[in-house]
Amino acid sequence: MSRLIVISNRVAAPRPQGEGGAQGGLAVALSAALREYRGFWFGWSGNKTDEFTGHIDFQRHEGVTSATIDLEEQDVDEYYNGYANRTLWPLFHYRIDLAEYDRSFAGGYERVNERFADTVSPLIEPDDLVWVHDYHLIPLGAQLRERGLKNRIGFFLHIPFPPSRLMVSLPFHEGLVLSLLAYDVIGFQTEEWLESFRHYISRELGGHCEPDGTIHVGDRSVHAAAYPIGIDYAEFSAAARSEGAKCACERLTASAAGKHVIIGVDRLDYSKGLEERFLGYRRFLEEHEECQGKLFLLQIAPPSRGEVHTYEIIREDLDELSGRINGEFAEVDWVPIRYVNQGYDREDLAGFYRAAGIALITPLRDGMNLVAKEYVAAQDPENPGVLILSRFAGAALQLKDALLVNPYSKEEISDAIMKALSMPKEERVRRWQAMHESVQNEDVVWWRRSFVSALRGQKGESGTGRVEQRF
Ligand code: G6P
Repeated sequence: MSRLIVISNRVAAPRPQGEGGAQGGLAVALSAALREYRGFWFGWSGNKTDEFTGHIDFQRHEGVTSATIDLEEQDVDEYYNGYANRTLWPLFHYRIDLAEYDRSFAGGYERVNERFADTVSPLIEPDDLVWVHDYHLIPLGAQLRERGLKNRIGFFLHIPFPPSRLMVSLPFHEGLVLSLLAYDVIGFQTEEWLESFRHYISRELGGHCEPDGTIHVGDRSVHAAAYPIGIDYAEFSAAARSEGAKCACERLTASAAGKHVIIGVDRLDYSKGLEERFLGYRRFLEEHEECQGKLFLLQIAPPSRGEVHTYEIIREDLDELSGRINGEFAEVDWVPIRYVNQGYDREDLAGFYRAAGIALITPLRDGMNLVAKEYVAAQDPENPGVLILSRFAGAALQLKDALLVNPYSKEEISDAIMKALSMPKEERVRRWQAMHESVQNEDVVWWRRSFVSALRGQKGESGTGRVEQRF
């Protein structure tokens, strides 16, 4: 069997508490794939070095080999903080107002992708399947081809792909998208992002998109399809049944002292719609005075990308807004928002989800959103909570039985909270059962098998066929 080589900016290494919590679901899932197919996981160590040497640090942990490199400070500034997180991230989340176009960022992005290609290519054997992840590494496939790799190489974009009309605001956008054609398979989270990509291909590059997912541009043909990522259902449900989860659930329930708990868990990022969420919740408190003191919003938001200015600003704005709302409505024995800037491990989160009767997950734009799926997985089937979900999260295409809201509308958020609070148990159970079925069946194992079988060139198992029927 061929080996699987996973390449991403970050490699699964447990992060310290407070910096995004412990290992995420994707890391767990890809580690499982690497154990199944052998191979290794290549990426940035997260550390800086004075001078780039290309030295690879190999480590073996629980049957998975990771191979990481350090980057120079300038690399991190221009590639990670710069092009990836100040240019592509806002643009791909439809925020061209926040996107910064700086020539040095683009240069650093190209250079680091070359460094990745130079370092990893000698480790790749002719039969290996190579799977590249996310917006940090779009040109890597083309760089690997330039170094003579003939392997099957796939790319999966974890974030949205923007509509063509926004994409064209990126200087040299054609070059970036053309470089995607070096891959054999390109995967998107949903049909919506796939559609934007296909539109761009035909409108901007004069390519031709066939109904079976094949895309032709010049003499190059690639397969592009939607493969919605899922959670590791088996692993997460086991975490939800653990002693740790039970303790976390009891801890939150005891401290709630009979009040309803609304939970939100998001990386502290402007794409998550936290300000709009707080304002929607504030509107609810205003409109329903009788509910004041009877519920609270627990918003867990571990800080991220602190070296990027827009993230410093959003952090300050949220500190201020949560403080203002609390000051305005709090009583001696009640605060409306518990705003927590630290990460928790999976067992704790599973317990908190179980204790919360409502989840309020309202990103302004999100590739998928696995918190929504984890919330569903952690519920008590006999007495499940209600998921309020942004219609602009990729997950909304599968979790149609959530209360779907426009995250920009305070009124819709407020009305959805009221509807969730008063929802009869039969309706909660009915909605939850439908969502649970999708979360359980379309899990991360299904996702990676679909993608890897498409990458192997096997027909009939690619995400599109099955997913199209559901959407
Ligand atoms: C998103 C991206 C991932 C990224 C994660 C955390 O989910 O799709 O590629 O790893 O955010 O962001 P960070 O910048 O801390 O890696």
